[in-house]
Amino acid sequence: MNKEDIFAGVVASRYSCRNYSPAEVGDNEIAYILEQLRLAPSACNRQPWRVMVIRPGDAAGREAVAAAYNREWVRTAPCYIIMCGVPAEAWIRPFDSHNHVDVDVAIATEHVCLAAEAIGLGTCWICNFDPAILSEKLGLETGVVPVAIIPVGHPAEGTSAPEKKRKILAEILLER
Ligand SMILES: Cc1cc2nc3c(=O)[nH]c(=O)nc-3n(C[C@H](O)[C@H](O)[C@H](O)COP(=O)(O)O)c2cc1C
Repeated sequence: MNKEDIFAGVVASRYSCRNYSPAEVGDNEIAYILEQLRLAPSACNRQPWRVMVIRPGDAAGREAVAAAYNREWVRTAPCYIIMCGVPAEAWIRPFDSHNHVDVDVAIATEHVCLAAEAIGLGTCWICNFDPAILSEKLGLETGVVPVAIIPVGHPAEGTSAPEKKRKILAEILLER
């Protein structure tokens, strides 16, 4: 298969997985995902991100996630990747002083999700968590801001991708 088809296939099959099997995620799989994260582009190549991996044996880490994002389904994931930004390292646009940390971390986060999909693992972006609780319970240093929690695991048996609901191109294309 050519790159074009492989990429389109990964994008098409990724979905927000909210039910995981307890099956183990290998260290090699986590390493693959983290390497794709590391290669993400960022404004001025500042790479203003930090990442924390929470594995199944890390009871305190799992508790931190559950406390910050109190949903039953999130507990089914065997691993979590905590995507953080360091605003002080990020590029600031001189025209309007806009700090690009969220843009950069978002790109890296989607690399994580697509990389996981490419090796058969499910993920889901989570931003609707309490950042103060997460930072405190994970012991994040001042200046390191959690941006997204990404559960990672094998989708539970019988879980399937829902139909993609997206705007049609005509709705998003700005004509000129
Ligand atoms: C920035 C961002 C934040 C999100 N936060 C949450 C969240 O807190 N909880 C959740 O269940 N899904 C969350 N999602 C998942 C979206 O609901 C989902 O991506 C969207 O509905 C499209 O569905 P799909 O990912 O299955 O294609 C988030 C997605 C993004 C990109």
